[in-house]
Amino acid sequence: MDMKKLAAGNWKMNGTRAALAEVDGLGSDRVEVLICPPATLIAPLADRGSRVLVGGQDCDARAEGAHTGDIAAAQLLDAGASHVILGHSERRADHGETDAQVAAKAVAAHQAGLVTIICVGETEAQRDAGETLAVIAAQLAGSVPDCATATNTVVAYEPVWAIGTGRTADASQIAEVHGAMRQTLAARFADADGMRLLYGGSVKAGNAAEIFAIPNVDGALVGGASLKAADFSPIIAALE
Ligand code: G3P
Repeated sequence: MDMKKLAAGNWKMNGTRAALAEVDGLGSDRVEVLICPPATLIAPLADRGSRVLVGGQDCDARAEGAHTGDIAAAQLLDAGASHVILGHSERRADHGETDAQVAAKAVAAHQAGLVTIICVGETEAQRDAGETLAVIAAQLAGSVPDCATATNTVVAYEPVWAIGTGRTADASQIAEVHGAMRQTLAARFADADGMRLLYGGSVKAGNAAEIFAIPNVDGALVGGASLKAADFSPIIAALE
């Protein structure tokens, strides 16, 4: 089973073609390196011949049709993507995406042949209320479809309060959630041990090694620090 660690960059709504030069020197023989640029840059990045894998940041659950502005999983694949991020907290907040919608998108993505990175994470209010593990368990139950396998699914734990804030969850918080996620997934999926679990939320060069040493952390989903090669390279190196 492929348990190569994964360094994934989520560029969010940042970057134009000029930014693709940042990707040219990235890549690794020991870990998978993935860049998920805005949809406009998927094909240009994939066509650039770089060593990194390319992913989308969302896809629609439907295959095709009169759905202005939406992108089907098969279209991402055709553009050169191998992965797609689904259920990021920014999409759950900005677009009201529900667990059921995320699961439906994941089914469509798997049918098209994409690897999904399904995001879960609690808000600060939920953490303060002691609800973190229950929230994560519910999101996993609702967002990860039954067709998930270690090959087609990666799960990313991104505490909402740690995204873009410079605040990271501490090692014990990450260890607790990742351990609980592994157990929850193991109750449903025979190959859950091989499912990669990423941490995301203000990962940077200075904290990457500490985070990657935590049990059940198989890589990172990186936002701001994936935009520049100088910031992302040391994170990749810490995972190697
Ligand atoms: O998907 C990655 C993400 O939400 C984390 O963003 O900027 O805190 O690394 P950032």
